[in-house]
Parts: sequence; structure tokens; C-alpha cells
Amino acid sequence: MRSYNSPDSAVKHLQPENPVIIYRPHALKRAVDTFLTQFNGDVMYAVKTNPDEHVLKDLWDNGVRRFDAASLHEVSLVRGLFPQAEIYFMHTVKSRKAIREAYHTYGVRHFSLDTQDELDKILAETGQANDLGLHVRLAIPNSYAELALTDKFGAGQTEAVHLLQNVRDVALSAGVCFHVGSQCMHPDAYKLAIKLAKQVIKAAGVQIDTFDVGGGFPSTYPGMTPPDMSSYFAAIHDATRDLVKQHGCRLLAEPGRALVAESGSVLVRVELRKGNFLYINDGTYGSLFDAGQPKWLYPCRLLNRKATAEDQEGFSFYGPTCDTLDFMKGPFYLPADIQEGDYIEIGQLGAYGRTMATRFNGFAPANQPVTVKDEPLMSLYAPARVSVAQTRKVA
Ligand SMILES: Cc1ncc(COP(=O)(O)O)c(C=O)c1O
Repeated sequence: MRSYNSPDSAVKHLQPENPVIIYRPHALKRAVDTFLTQFNGDVMYAVKTNPDEHVLKDLWDNGVRRFDAASLHEVSLVRGLFPQAEIYFMHTVKSRKAIREAYHTYGVRHFSLDTQDELDKILAETGQANDLGLHVRLAIPNSYAELALTDKFGAGQTEAVHLLQNVRDVALSAGVCFHVGSQCMHPDAYKLAIKLAKQVIKAAGVQIDTFDVGGGFPSTYPGMTPPDMSSYFAAIHDATRDLVKQHGCRLLAEPGRALVAESGSVLVRVELRKGNFLYINDGTYGSLFDAGQPKWLYPCRLLNRKATAEDQEGFSFYGPTCDTLDFMKGPFYLPADIQEGDYIEIGQLGAYGRTMATRFNGFAPANQPVTVKDEPLMSLYAPARVSVAQTRKVA
């Protein structure tokens, strides 16, 4: 992978025609170190967040040994790269073939579920295996999350109690898991979820071996500044202390966004300006889905030249496809004199960026990642928190 001092020098050398992934390995390492040294449990990376090979390899090189896979493809990707990895298949709805191959071909022993039907499938397809780690996913409120994951997944309290008892009867290791929703903005969400999980465990009257607090750990974006990661860990450790002592259970977490968001940016080019609308060469069908649909804001920076205008203005983006949904409202703050041919770095796209991209209209997803050595546009982990002017809160 080519390496540059900064995205500016990458633009200078490449003058890229297509969007380019900017990758900062030092930012990834900082996030991983934070989790591995401060979270009192096992950290599994949620592969869906960013399955790029260079990211997975750097996670491994920095000490991540467990991976949360959502599909058979992710299972095989991880197993192909890391024969020693512990893979957790944490999608609660899996095809029979996926369960079978995960268990028999790829050595997966951990599965999540939220129904008796799924438990029956897992047992049938693994040949009633007696070495399974089974994780009952609980439905919990996602009230503090910017992207809620409720409704689709999770067993209600009563159902979860029965499931946990049934799982306990057949599993080598039994436990519960949940997801507080993505980009969870307050540690109290974990406290509430843990309280509900404890009620289920108590009502089930069984010993558990694992307690998985899921993903949801936040990153920082314009208008979304979460508390320090240490306050999330403190809330989880406090709320689980008695449980860990009583059951001797292992704490697990499945972070995605918080590990990789700030290590990735996308470098795009302005193809046309119409007033305060910039037509750029990446969009909602590419790396910028979340800028379009949930209308998230991302930090931006002009790269190829020094702006002549002192002031910044809020811009909206149109992506390259013919679809009017390929629109990112913003506002994204950039120098007022931005023009066709300018290159922009759009930051905080290491999570749920290129992994969501399509080839709609023949536009290839951002490719050919390059590494850079400077700091990300925003950071939760940098010693002095980094943040650009565009972080102003939008009404
Ligand atoms: C089961 C599961 N675990 C972990 C994650 C990662 O979540 P996050 O990126 O919010 O940390 C997700 C994301 O959707 C998920 O569905």
C-alpha cells in the first residue's frame, strides 16, 4: 500500500480520478490499545464495520484475536486470514448451510440466537454438538443510540428466560448478549441493558459463562461528541461486578465503529459546483450511505490548495449517480471559494463507509487505500482530542 505524510501529499502525487480510501494505522492502533488495555474482558471486532484486509490484519497485529461475524462470507474471510482466530457467529438468523459450514468447515463454536427455532437449527446442523458457546440475544431499549437496532433482533424478557434455560441444558458455554444500538451516546444505556439482562439471568436461575455487552461504543462526529470511552468501560465494569463475581463469567464486547471509524477517510473530488451544492465523485451508493439516509455529518477538509476565502460555508453534496437519493444534506463546512477540481478529505469513514458501497451506475467504490501519517480530522483517542472547525453543532 502506498504511504504518504498526509492526504494533501497523496493528492499531489496521485491526482486521483476516483475516490481513494485514506487509512491511518496509528489511529487504529490507538483505538485497539484503548479497548485491549481498559476493557476488563475479551474484545471481538465486528467485521461488518470494515472488512478490508489491511484493517483486519492490523487489528490482528495489534492484538485482536476474536471476531464477530455476521455471515458465512465473513466467517470464511476471517478464517482464511487467521487460522487461530476465535470466531463468533453473532447474527441471530442464519441459514442452515451457514451454520453447518461455520461449524464443520470453519471451526466456529459460538453462535447467537433469539428464538427456540434458531436454537433447534443450530443443534440440528451441528449434529447436536456438545462443544457450543451459545449466546441468547436480549431485546433492550436503544434509547441512547443514534442508530437503533431494536425490533429486528432480540428476545423479550419472558422468552429470553426460557431460551436461556434451554441453552444452559445443551451448551458447553451459555450466556447472554445484547446491542444498545449503534453510536450510543451515553454510558447509562449499558447500565440499563445490564440491569435487564440480570433480571433475565436471575429469573432463569442458571449459571452463565459469558456476558456480552455487544457493540454500540461511539466515535465522534460533527454535532455528536460522546463522553470518553473510559466512562463506558467504568459503567459496564460497575454494573457487572457482582455478576462476574457470582457466576465467574467472562465479559465480552463486540465493538465495530469505535475501533475503526477514525482510522478511515475518503478522498473525493468536486466535479461541479452549483451554488452551495457540490457534485462529488462519491455518494450514498458509495462510501457515504450514512451521510444520505440518517443524514449524519462528517468532518471535511479542502486538500489540494490553500483556500483564498477565509470563511467557511455549509455545503450539501450530490453523489455521482443519477438517483436523487444520492444526496447528502450536510451541512459540510468547507472554504467558501471551493470549486470544481478541488479535492476534499471526508473523515470518520473507517466504519460503515466503503463496506456499504455498491457499483450502481458503474461508479466503482473507493479503492486503492493509501496510508497517511498525520492525525485524523477528529479523534476520541488522540492525546489532545483532535477536531476540526466543522464540528459545530447544527440546529
Ligand atoms: C451483532 C452486532 N454486534 C456488533 C455490532 C457492531 O456495532 P457498533 O459498530 O455499533 O459497535 C453490530 C452492528 O450492527 C451488530 O449487529
